[in-house]
Amino acid sequence: MRILLVGNGGREHALLWKLRRDAPDAVVYATRPNGGMAPLCEPVEIAPTDVEALSGFAASRGVDLTIVGPEAPLAMGLADRFRAKGLPVFGPSRAAARIESSKAFAKELMREEGVPTADYRVFTDGDAAEAWIRDQGAPIVVKASGLAAGKGAVVCTTVDEAVAAARSMLDDFAYGEAGREVVVEEFMEGEELSVFGVTDGEDVVLLLPSQDHKRIGEGDTGPNTGGMGAYAPVSIATPPLLTEIRERVFRPVLQGMARRDAVFQGLLYAGLMMTPRGPRVVEFNCRFGDPEAQVVLPLLASSLLDLLVAAADGTGLGRMRPRFREGAAVTTVVASAGYPGPVEKGVPIDLSGVDESDEVVVFHAGTRLGGTGLETSGGRVLACTGLGATLPEAAARSREAAAAVRFEGAQYRRDIGWRELERSAD
Ligand code: AMP
Ligand code: GLY
Repeated sequence: MRILLVGNGGREHALLWKLRRDAPDAVVYATRPNGGMAPLCEPVEIAPTDVEALSGFAASRGVDLTIVGPEAPLAMGLADRFRAKGLPVFGPSRAAARIESSKAFAKELMREEGVPTADYRVFTDGDAAEAWIRDQGAPIVVKASGLAAGKGAVVCTTVDEAVAAARSMLDDFAYGEAGREVVVEEFMEGEELSVFGVTDGEDVVLLLPSQDHKRIGEGDTGPNTGGMGAYAPVSIATPPLLTEIRERVFRPVLQGMARRDAVFQGLLYAGLMMTPRGPRVVEFNCRFGDPEAQVVLPLLASSLLDLLVAAADGTGLGRMRPRFREGAAVTTVVASAGYPGPVEKGVPIDLSGVDESDEVVVFHAGTRLGGTGLETSGGRVLACTGLGATLPEAAARSREAAAAVRFEGAQYRRDIGWRELERSAD
């Protein structure tokens, strides 16, 4: 079997690691692999967003399945192009990817389909946004509607802060195109939960729920990032709650997408807030979460590849029941100095102190092989995943591995999984 994996971050390293275990004999091509992916794949010197060149590559090599990691190629129509050429691909069409690439679209879909979410308005004019924000009061949340690498949401504790955020997007184009349309929404209180659904557009298989830590600082403080760590499973996500999420979130959304001629085939990620009124949607993504994939995939004991093939083929997914190993996984992201702001690249990395094993896996994100060895190439550099029979055990392994990573300015949170650790201590 020949597989093409599009993307080269931590999520894609986790996908590659799992695919290698599922199909040791498969040839796996990956686009511009990072330093950790390179030894596991056949490198392809094509950018993940070069849709034309990638479809040509897949056709010429007889690729059996293309798996798309990041949202950008999907929002650009990679899956449409592949399907038009008869090339099997796991990932939604451009129209279906709008569930992530346009928060305004996602909110309207939820409103029309009766999916629980925060009340909201969409604005393209700064004065109108200001008037509504002043009328609503704080706390309130201001979001760039388009793709903003996980940094487009501003949770505001004062009205002035919210007005400034909306005006920076609408009047000063602080987020470029992504912020020309702005969603202003009600603040929701509660704990967050990430749920992955592998879907062929009709049936959906939910994977283990996980929790991401989006803030840069310990205790969930400071600015939002792409994600500083994650853990799974999450004990508040009981089987009845997951059934509710499937019936009240995934099912209506998939049906609503199909009715809008935007059948969603691929990975639908629901970011939820567990509010006192029940689970409500914070956002949808059209691909696996990063760093949630780095904990969910290592816990998946059965084949991921079989699920993705079934979803892409549109046959048999409804009969599949994934199996997960007992215990827990925690991943700690090690980031460059300055992240989530601008960072320096090309800083040498020393991983000689990290003991990788069946219970400790280091997933590379922003790394590359430079002239003198492994070096940094981005904000989030590595995700150190620890597995264990219990969450405290997994957390300790993850933290120890992160502490053993050496590069100048390395920063990481020492409290990943803290909510669950507090619960398990009760
Ligand atoms: P998003 O880009 O929509 O995923 O939002 C990023 C993060 O901002 C979320 O993971 C939440 O932590 C926070 N957030 C977004 N929307 C809300 C909301 N309505 N209420 C409270 N927090 C929110
Ligand atoms: N971890 C959040 C995301 O992947 O968007």
